[in-house]
Amino acid sequence: MSDIISQYRISTAPYYRPVADEVELFQAAYSVRMPMMLKGPTGCGKTRFVEYMAYTLGKPLITVACNEDMTASDLVGRFLLDAQGTRWQDGPLAIAARYGALCYLDEVVEARQDTTVVIHPLTDNRRVLPLEKKGELIKAHSDFQLVISYNPGYQSLMKDLKQSTKQRFGALDFNYPAHEVETEIIAHETRVTVEVASKLVSIAERARNLKGHGLDEGISTRMLIYAGSLIVAGVDAKNACRVALVRPITDDPDMRDALDAAVMTFF
Ligand SMILES: Nc1ncnc2c1ncn2[C@@H]1O[C@H](COP(=O)(O)OP(=O)(O)OP(=O)(O)O)[C@@H](O)[C@H]1O
Ligand SMILES: [Mg+2]
Repeated sequence: MSDIISQYRISTAPYYRPVADEVELFQAAYSVRMPMMLKGPTGCGKTRFVEYMAYTLGKPLITVACNEDMTASDLVGRFLLDAQGTRWQDGPLAIAARYGALCYLDEVVEARQDTTVVIHPLTDNRRVLPLEKKGELIKAHSDFQLVISYNPGYQSLMKDLKQSTKQRFGALDFNYPAHEVETEIIAHETRVTVEVASKLVSIAERARNLKGHGLDEGISTRMLIYAGSLIVAGVDAKNACRVALVRPITDDPDMRDALDAAVMTFF
């Protein structure tokens, strides 16, 4: 039994550079087992943060990438047929609730609402998970906590969390870190010099100002790390920026020119 959960333990400390008071707030939320929602654009540090918190709290972490084909059974579990007959297999949410892990549902809005509602009884004072097909009611382990992520930019009216879901969570806003902090992160993650990291961040800042003016999303911290890694691998900085920063986010020739110009300003 403990094998099932031990594979979800994080053995080495993830590098996470706190941006504000999110670590203290999350610790307080965990102390009262408040379900938490991490909101913010892609590639800004949400997954890294939850890994860091799970490690710091000494709890296993079970991550589920949500998508619209996901069913409640994918979260809760199902009967499987094998040579011995049928046997029940817990889904990731059931494992987390049973053995006391942090369960991180990534991009939860992608899941259909009939899937999302299975988290409701776990995220109010009942803290239970009914396995209806099995006829079992799991009372969540005292260490269990549910964390979800949510990118506020991507929702359409058709695709959003119901208020009855949202109101079960505390929320932390994430965003791209301040210039010096993001520079430090890029330098740490890629080993580029602080000077080069700072230039990469400046390019990203230009692009982030274009969000909503032809760009759907700014250049993320993740993309800057890609660019830095290419530079460390020996790629010329301008080329690294084209490949890792400019081409992925837009196909519009004018926008590419504008971003290329930003790259030329710094490299
Ligand atoms: N505060 C931070 N401390 C350390 N590393 C960071 C921080 N913020 C971002 N990073 C770096 O940026 C990368 C991307 O962050 P992460 O994968 O956590 O993004 P995300 O918000 O989960 O994105 P998505 O919504 O696409 O899943 C990480 O792998 C990490 O290297
Ligand atoms: Mg993530």
